[in-house]
Amino acid sequence: MSTTGAMPEIATVMTTASPAAGPYIEFQKVSKAFGTKVVLDEVSFFAMPAETLCILGRSGVGKSVSLALIMGFLKADSGQITVGGEDISGLSESCLERLRKRVTMVFQNGALFDSLSVGENVAFPLRERGELTEDQLLQVADGLLQLVGVGEMRDMLPSELSTGMKRSVAIARAMAAQPECILYDEPTTMVDPMMAILLGDLILKLKMQLHLTSIVVTHDMRLARKLADRIVFLHQGKAIFFGTPHEMEQSELPIIREFLELDELKIDG
Ligand SMILES: Nc1ncnc2c1ncn2[C@@H]1O[C@H](COP(=O)(O)OP(=O)(O)O)[C@@H](O)[C@H]1O
Ligand SMILES: [Mg+2]
Repeated sequence: MSTTGAMPEIATVMTTASPAAGPYIEFQKVSKAFGTKVVLDEVSFFAMPAETLCILGRSGVGKSVSLALIMGFLKADSGQITVGGEDISGLSESCLERLRKRVTMVFQNGALFDSLSVGENVAFPLRERGELTEDQLLQVADGLLQLVGVGEMRDMLPSELSTGMKRSVAIARAMAAQPECILYDEPTTMVDPMMAILLGDLILKLKMQLHLTSIVVTHDMRLARKLADRIVFLHQGKAIFFGTPHEMEQSELPIIREFLELDELKIDG
């Protein structure tokens, strides 16, 4: 494999995860409303360390809101949210900032710095830590770019990349922060089908090689089948299903059956 030379570097930076006894991330009866609009109504689910949880559901059901709650960008109205084994409800902004180094998010648009090269974008979180020499920084950034399959794009600007490639770079940058957990918001939407498969494979590779806890928000059932240890399905404010992909396939719930049948139509079409 072409990336093996770079992997030991990456492996040494990625061993900081502390084993937690319980779930790494957990929602216990979490509710969130905006004004009179109830988005989440006593929603419960969890992800164990090194597991991948997929949050599924139609547009507007509160998937992105759930990620924002995990990151502490939004506050729950009630219920308990555990991140990295800690109840985050009472955490100060500075504690949340520390937590955001352990749990990073890959935004849908990549949120890269437009004026920095791809390599500099990935080196940025590494440089912020101030632990590596300039040579080491570039070496680790190169290794991460190779890991996500865009090694040859190091000197390009984000504007020169396709949406899918930007997302790969965003994943490399998230990895550079040496997180214990990565949150992905709709990683395969708005890219072509081939790129969607590549991005899914990349997330799967990171899961298998680095054992990071991951939360993947998606409405792509094929991606969920590929990645998920557990799935939570949100519908009209409720978590109407929480279980394994296999259990979901067996579910008799009409909403779930409809979702799965629509998905089959998409595969046929
Ligand atoms: N900051 C906000 N202020 C008011 N309403 C919001 C805010 N963020 C999200 N919402 C509303 O919450 C609902 C769920 O949004 P979201 O989580 O983004 O949906 P999705 O499942 O498609 O990711 C939507 O109706 C959205 O308009
Ligand atoms: Mg969303």
